[in-house]
Amino acid sequence: MNLYQLIYISTATSKINEDTIRDIGIKASEKNKTEQVTGLLAYKGDNFIQVLEGKKKDVLNIYQNIIVKDKRNTRHLIVYEGEISKKEFGEWGMATFNAGSYKKVAIDNDQSDESFRLQVKIEGSSFVSRLLRTYLRSF
Ligand SMILES: Cc1cc2nc3c(=O)[nH]c(=O)nc-3n(C[C@H](O)[C@H](O)[C@H](O)COP(=O)(O)O)c2cc1C
Repeated sequence: MNLYQLIYISTATSKINEDTIRDIGIKASEKNKTEQVTGLLAYKGDNFIQVLEGKKKDVLNIYQNIIVKDKRNTRHLIVYEGEISKKEFGEWGMATFNAGSYKKVAIDNDQSDESFRLQVKIEGSSFVSRLLRTYLRSF
């Protein structure tokens, strides 16, 4: 299976709080599960950065037809897209991460070791980890 990765940034149209993120995370995880798309949605202040990974057509469908049309975010900019050999965030339907407090936003029965694994990943040396850190620390 050809795997595709798309990373974009966008701006929230109104103030983001953990309830908004939880709502997006739950819906995204449900929908993405049926399409086998996984990833990470991180935010800091009004700024989102999301990594989507899966089959190219599914990733593009979610990005173009759902995310870009969602009025809760605007000014989308793709910062990377291309084929990948392995998923970076394969174990999460859609992990949501508050980079302001450096905490994973609890969705269901959040476990702290999961938060820890996510943090280790973000602190890693891969291209995506470095991109996430550079972006999120610029605010
Ligand atoms: C920043 C952001 C990221 C989102 N990411 C996803 C996603 O990865 N997958 C998805 O299906 N929806 C995503 N959404 C869309 C919402 O969760 C959307 O409300 C939901 O998928 C549509 O569900 P509904 O129309 O059944 O309520 C995102 C929305 C925003 C604002």
